[in-house]
Amino acid sequence: MTVFAFAQQQEPAQALATELGTACSIVECHRFPDGESCIQIEPELIADSCVVYASLVQPDNITLPLFFLAHTLRDYGVQHITLVAPYLAYMRQDKIFKSGQGVTARYYARLLSSCFDKLVTVDPHLHRIHDLADIYSIETKLVRAAPAVSNWLKANVSSPVIIGPDSESAQWVKKLAKNSGAPFLVLEKTRRGDRDVEVIVPQVEKWTDCTPVLFDDIISTGKTMIETIKHLLAAGLSAPVCIGIHAVFADAAWQQIKQA
Ligand code: R5P
Repeated sequence: MTVFAFAQQQEPAQALATELGTACSIVECHRFPDGESCIQIEPELIADSCVVYASLVQPDNITLPLFFLAHTLRDYGVQHITLVAPYLAYMRQDKIFKSGQGVTARYYARLLSSCFDKLVTVDPHLHRIHDLADIYSIETKLVRAAPAVSNWLKANVSSPVIIGPDSESAQWVKKLAKNSGAPFLVLEKTRRGDRDVEVIVPQVEKWTDCTPVLFDDIISTGKTMIETIKHLLAAGLSAPVCIGIHAVFADAAWQQIKQA
């Protein structure tokens, strides 16, 4: 079994291949001047069963090359392809938010299901869609981040209070709090736009002796984290530890979170 990946994701793909005791093959993706792309695989590394490693950050850039890669592997005789996508994109577009839109989580699932036989992903954003099987027609396997995060917390943070910025984060925050034996709070968030969120923080003064640990599944623009950080600092809590399962970091999110 070979692990195939695009060059930008070589490091984690190689780590996965090492863990599996198999080869990692980098797929070339040539961009023509007109914007089309051409996939080049190493045909000598083809096996009956292959893994494609592709975290789906910036999904519109990677999905068409991924589609070509899957079909190329099939044409070279691969029988079974597992997509390992730690970050599964498009899961937040899980309903029609405004008339005229579609449920892109479903369409994206349909596309990936037509390319791969199995999907392995880490804590997808299951909110209004409760099970990947509701939208993916292929076998899916979820890896949970909470055990690794709680082990890290136990080893690195003393007296944590775990804070989820919105109701969607409650599912992860509760697991993390239970695993690490820490108290938790779940805040209320209202999103007014892509980069405009309001977070309502209740009385948190009783937690001033604790280390606040903000925990969310996805950090995209970072605004959710930043708004929460501002409130916590204003209430006299210390600078929080911020944990996101999927560090998407759109635009300057990383710099802005550090500044906050
Ligand atoms: C939303 O429902 C997710 O759980 C995250 O809270 C959200 O994606 C964070 O986005 P941003 O970093 O852009 O505020």
